[in-house]
Amino acid sequence: MTEPEETAPRGLSRRGLLGLVGAGAAGLAVGGGAVAAVGLSQPNGVGVSTVYPFFGEHQAGITTPAQDRLHFAAFDMASTATRDDLVELLRDWTYAAARLTQGHEVTEGGAVDGSPLAPPDDTGEALGLPASGLTITFGFGPTLFTTDDGTDRFGIADRRPALLEKLPRFSGDALRPESGGGDLCIQACADDPQVAVHAIRNLSRIAFGRASIRWSQLGFGRTSSTSTSQVTPRNLFGFKDGTANIKAEDPATVADQVWVAKGDGPAWMTGGSYLVTRKIRMIIEAWDRTQLQEQENVIGRSKGEGAPLSGGKEFTEPDFSAKGAAGQDLIGADAHVRLAHPTATGGAQLLRRGYNFVDGNDELGRLDAGLFFISFQRSPEQFVAVQKNLARDALNEYIKHVGSAIFAVPPGATTDSYVGAGLFA
Ligand code: HEM
Repeated sequence: MTEPEETAPRGLSRRGLLGLVGAGAAGLAVGGGAVAAVGLSQPNGVGVSTVYPFFGEHQAGITTPAQDRLHFAAFDMASTATRDDLVELLRDWTYAAARLTQGHEVTEGGAVDGSPLAPPDDTGEALGLPASGLTITFGFGPTLFTTDDGTDRFGIADRRPALLEKLPRFSGDALRPESGGGDLCIQACADDPQVAVHAIRNLSRIAFGRASIRWSQLGFGRTSSTSTSQVTPRNLFGFKDGTANIKAEDPATVADQVWVAKGDGPAWMTGGSYLVTRKIRMIIEAWDRTQLQEQENVIGRSKGEGAPLSGGKEFTEPDFSAKGAAGQDLIGADAHVRLAHPTATGGAQLLRRGYNFVDGNDELGRLDAGLFFISFQRSPEQFVAVQKNLARDALNEYIKHVGSAIFAVPPGATTDSYVGAGLFA
């Protein structure tokens, strides 16, 4: 197991500790005094596991090679929460996330080494598991800055990035309010689902009384590569997904399309990014009755190799002017990759980092399945440009967007500070 090189900035606040035990038993844990240790103990796990740094210029979980599992949660602040509560929550989340990502429990006392008279500080289901490449990424929704009725609850309305707006309505949207919005978000990605779930569970427990989960999503099977070291995975339509994605090994494109640059907006966002989630239901049954040739035409790529229909191999650039024997476009006018390609979006690109989901089935026995689309971009305008272009997408016959959210992702924290500190400076 890799030894952690990082230190967390401080212990959990009293409120954070109260969250761990629940309001009823609060006195016990605080009195027990075993939970506010700052140092990091031995990691939980044994054996080899990837450990990503938590602190740094940018938050992890963006250009980090996409892990295999996701637990994503959007939170709303409690109606009684103050600015101090919000700052304290971000400090507590930073402390806990710095530990969890290094393979530690939430506190030194953890699941079994605290007071026997108090509920354990850590829920325990990740005991013995390695860090599993866990990354925890935090974001701020538009309503954190100004509520829908214009209230500036936390004194940060003037710090709101001008482009951090609820996404516009797109053609074909069938959004369910229960799958969208949120004051805050946490994206937990790991190669072990139990590790990702453990992170969200414990962070929401710490938030007790200050923020609560509004909606959440489990994802399995990454649908993107964010590094050239990764094999391109497949989505639930059986196609390779992520071939033309932005990759970490292309720093010029990452700088140009993913990270907020100095002067783009408020200074506190420099080095951050914007995160969009779209919960997209895939009409699996209709797709599965569609001929292979039609499926390939819809995407504009072959199903086996993932090569553009204009020819070549998976990573050959598509030739959108290529014609067939009858003079037809080899990549159709409504093919997904033609409409999503930067040549059609005014140069806008996205770093896609989505996951498959299956949330059981509907009353007709059809799988409630699809793509939990996640993208990171320097400006929300990039997503809007691509999604608007997809209004003509042949894929629309087989998909339905049911959830939508946007968050400003602040830059990474330094070891002596917390995520989002610049917003309150
Ligand atoms: C369930 C819905 C979707 C499916 C099944 C899907 C599938 C695919 C597939 C198979 C590819 C080709 C391989 C690749 O380059 O990654 C692709 C490319 C792409 N998709 Fe999607 N996609 C979906 C939704 C979206 C949405 C909502 C967006 C953005 C608004 C989007 C943006 C892109 C982009 C930017 C590319 C790369 C285009 C290029 O430069 O060649 N996709 N998608």
